[in-house]
Amino acid sequence: MAAKPRTADKPKSQIDQLRDDLLVTTRELSGAYEELSIFHRLSLTLAGLTLEQIYDKLFDEIQAMLDVKTVAIMLINEEGNELYTVSFRGKWPGGKVFKKGNNIFWTTIEQRAPKVVGDIIGLSARIKISPVLICPVIGKKKALGAIIIGERKSGKEFYSADIKFLLAIASQAALAMENASLYQELENLLLSTVVAFGKAIDSRSHWTYGHSDRVTKYAVDIAREIDMDNDFIDKLKICSLLHDIGKITIPIDILDKPAGLTELEMNQMNRHPFVGARIFEDFKPFKDIVEGIKHHHERWDGNGFYGELKGEKIPLMARIIAVADAYDALTSDRPYRKKKNREEVITEITDKAGKQFDPKLVQIFLKVIDSYDSERA
Ligand SMILES: [Fe+2]
Repeated sequence: MAAKPRTADKPKSQIDQLRDDLLVTTRELSGAYEELSIFHRLSLTLAGLTLEQIYDKLFDEIQAMLDVKTVAIMLINEEGNELYTVSFRGKWPGGKVFKKGNNIFWTTIEQRAPKVVGDIIGLSARIKISPVLICPVIGKKKALGAIIIGERKSGKEFYSADIKFLLAIASQAALAMENASLYQELENLLLSTVVAFGKAIDSRSHWTYGHSDRVTKYAVDIAREIDMDNDFIDKLKICSLLHDIGKITIPIDILDKPAGLTELEMNQMNRHPFVGARIFEDFKPFKDIVEGIKHHHERWDGNGFYGELKGEKIPLMARIIAVADAYDALTSDRPYRKKKNREEVITEITDKAGKQFDPKLVQIFLKVIDSYDSERA
C-alpha cells in the first residue's frame, strides 16, 4: 500500500508555529500585566504614606518579586556629597557612609543606569554580598540615591527582566518619596503655624498663658489612654491648640474683666466656639477639627447655652477637650476667681460626670492625672 502523502505536515507545522507564538505572546502579556498591576497597586498604596512606610512596602514587593535577601535604600545628603542608608533588610552595613567619589554606588547614580555587580566585598570587614544589582533613584529634578538588592535565594544571576522591574520600582519610589517629603514639609509648616496661633491666643491675656499647651497635653494623654490612633491624635493636637481661637475677636478688657460681664459681653464670650469654627470652616482638611472647636463647650446632658448636641452625638474630640479644658481652667487663676486645689477640682469634675462631661472620659482622666502623681513620686 502506498504511503499517505505528507501534505498535512505543512499546515500542521504552521498551526504549531502559530500556537507557539501565541503562547509566547500570552506569557509576555501576562508578565506585562503582572508588572503593570504591581505598579498600579504600588502607586495606590504608596500615596499618603510616611517615608518609613514607603520603604517597607517597597522592600516587601522587591523581596517577593526578585527573590532577594538584601534590600537597601541609600539617599544623598542635603549637601550632595554623601550617601547614607535610610533603610535596609538582610546583610548590609547600615551605618556606613559613602563619600562622593570613585565608588560603585556614586558612579551608578551619576551614570543614571542600573548596574549588575558580581559581588560587593569590603563594605565592611565581614560583609560580602553576591550578586548585587544597584539601581539609581532619580527624582523630578535631581538624583535622590539608589536601591541596592542582592543575595538571590535561588543563587541565580540578575537578568534584564529583573533590571527592568527594579528600574520601574525605583521610579515609583522616587515619586512617592518626593511626595512624602513635600507632604512632610507642608505638615510641619501647618503645625508650626497652628502652634503660633495657639500661643497668640493664650498670650493675649496673662491669665491664659500656656493654657492651650496644657490642654493639648491632657487631651492627648486621654486619647492615648483610650487607644486612639495617630491620625486622631494628630488632629486632636491641632484642635486642642486652637480650641479657643474664637476668643481672638473678644476685646481684651472683656477677657480680663474680674466680674460682672454684661449680657452682651457674656453672649460674646459664649459665642467663641462658633467664631473659632467659622474661621476654619472652609479649610477642608480641618473638618473634624472644626467640629471639635465648635462643640468643646457642649454639655453631655445637652443642657446649657449650647445644647445643639448631647451624649455621644458630641464629637469625641470635643468631649475630650471639654474635660482637659475644665481641669486646666479650674487649676489656674482667673480674673474672676482664684485657682482651686487639685482635690477640689477632681471633686468638681467628678460631680459633673454625666452632667457636663462624658462620664467614661472623666474616669479615664482621673487615671491619667493619677499617673502624673506617680511620675512625680
Ligand atoms: Fe473655650
